[in-house]
Amino acid sequence: MAENKKPFQLDKETLVIIGVACLVFLWTVDRIFSAKGPKEEEPGKPNAERMEIREEPKKVEKANVPLATGKEPIDKIFIQSGCAACHTIPGIVAARGREGPKLELGTNARKRLADPNYQGRANTDWEYVQESILNPGVYIVKGYRDHVMPRWYGQKLSAEALDKIIQYLLKIEEV
Ligand code: HEC
Repeated sequence: MAENKKPFQLDKETLVIIGVACLVFLWTVDRIFSAKGPKEEEPGKPNAERMEIREEPKKVEKANVPLATGKEPIDKIFIQSGCAACHTIPGIVAARGREGPKLELGTNARKRLADPNYQGRANTDWEYVQESILNPGVYIVKGYRDHVMPRWYGQKLSAEALDKIIQYLLKIEEV
């Protein structure tokens, strides 16, 4: 009864062949497209490097960048923060500034607190040094002017940097 066979009826074998042909076709298309992707980069240019270039540069708020994090060595902290440009600081070779007084707080913090003109809030040497960095207008060292030393160190120094500065300055005695 071969005549009853519909002309377009497909037997199993033909279906398998068509199926395999489809798979081969899809695989070829996939290879062609993936060839444009990162798999076939120029030799010598690792993917990671290219991806880094594609990354958006991180946006940093300028105002939040500290002058010093406190991880730097002490001389770097004084230089990066600008103190060295205005102050002479014994032990810091680059600190030869003359805009402000020579920093010898191991001797002078006590003297400032004892000055009858002192009207700040500090009770200890440590507090005096901290106050004169964060709030320079509170007490003006005799012979110097107010509004020369910046008033924004509170926003520009990390707590760690500030602590290191104070610790260092309190060790300097007048000679
Ligand atoms: C643009 C110049 C300038 C810069 C920068 C500056 N200072 Fe001063 N500083 C001064 C002047 C001027 C005075 C004196 C007037 C006063 O007492 O506010 C002073 C006073 C001080 C005093 C009080 C000194 C004393 O003998 O009582 C300290 C402490 C001090 N500065 C620390 C610092 C530190 C730490 C930095 C950096 C983080 C710094 N200064 C940056 C100009 C500067």
